Amino acid sequence: MAFREYKIGARLFGVALGGSMVITLYMPTVDMTSVQVTETGLKKQLSYGRIGGFSYEDPFLQGEGKPKTVVLNKDPKTGESMETVEAYVYEKGVPFAGGINHPRILGKGVTELSKEKGRVTEADDSQGAVFLVQRGTYQGETVNYIENATATRGWQPQQVLKAGGDANTHYIGSGKIMFVREGCWWCHTLLPEQTQDWQAFGIPPRLGDFNGESPTAFGSDRKAPDLLHVGSRNSSKEWMMMHFFNPRLVQPHSIMPRFDYLWGEKDADGNPIDFAAWRTAYNKYKDGQTVYPPEIPSYAPDSEIRYLIDFVLSLK
Ligand code: HEC
Repeated sequence: MAFREYKIGARLFGVALGGSMVITLYMPTVDMTSVQVTETGLKKQLSYGRIGGFSYEDPFLQGEGKPKTVVLNKDPKTGESMETVEAYVYEKGVPFAGGINHPRILGKGVTELSKEKGRVTEADDSQGAVFLVQRGTYQGETVNYIENATATRGWQPQQVLKAGGDANTHYIGSGKIMFVREGCWWCHTLLPEQTQDWQAFGIPPRLGDFNGESPTAFGSDRKAPDLLHVGSRNSSKEWMMMHFFNPRLVQPHSIMPRFDYLWGEKDADGNPIDFAAWRTAYNKYKDGQTVYPPEIPSYAPDSEIRYLIDFVLSLK
């Protein structure tokens, strides 16, 4: 009796194990390479670049070696005015985004158009390149794809940076490094949920928003507002400056830490920032001795706070 039960048990175990192996081997779940990347997915990976965080390429997480996003309204080569575009500028030696090195991860149609019309496989990171997100049709379906404007239009990275100027150049890729390095994700998520969350924080992302992004920064345990669309609710650079310098300036009971050190040593005019004097003036304001808080120092064009604010305002 006991022996027969043992045999039945052994067979049932075999069936269960065999069944689970069949599922594992023949029924894969989400295959990222068969998901079609969205316009958001293309724009994000082109502006973030290949994020190496914690690797030799980016040993100190300084935000170096990242692409720059330049808003252009004239052709950088001919100077003729044109419809506003975002150009993703990869200077010499800046590692390319995942979808440029491996267009097959972009999904059906996007891969084909990026290679055939966009000529992405001709781009060479030792020379640098400029990319655009374009719209085309593949088998009757409208899809977004990546255009290598260096191959198709002869745009050179330095030319585009010059045509855009500093005011139209956004260090979004470097800013994402700051977001990861500074641990903003301990408190903030980049993932509105499929609940009433929508009403406060906007729509959740789509699957195709992530092809080619590495690492994603969803966050996990939310202690603070979701930031996926924060740039749509608040696009004020001045507010961001105050809030990052000292969140208590705009939210009296905020638990968010100060990020004033991201200003670095010098302000936009190259003068040293006197943090101690600022603090003294702030304490006077806090104690009600003065009516206005001290001014926030302007930030240098290559400061880490510029990177971070460029990233936060790109979250639309
Ligand atoms: C200790 C938790 C904590 C950390 C770490 C933190 N924040 Fe916050 N953050 C908050 C809280 C709480 C709020 C809401 C109150 C406020 O505005 O200060 C907030 C608000 C914000 C807002 C405004 C959100 C809105 O809905 O308008 C932005 C933008 C923001 N944080 C960005 C950042 C960035 C970028 C970092 C990393 C450099 C960061 N935060 C780190 C807790 C945190």
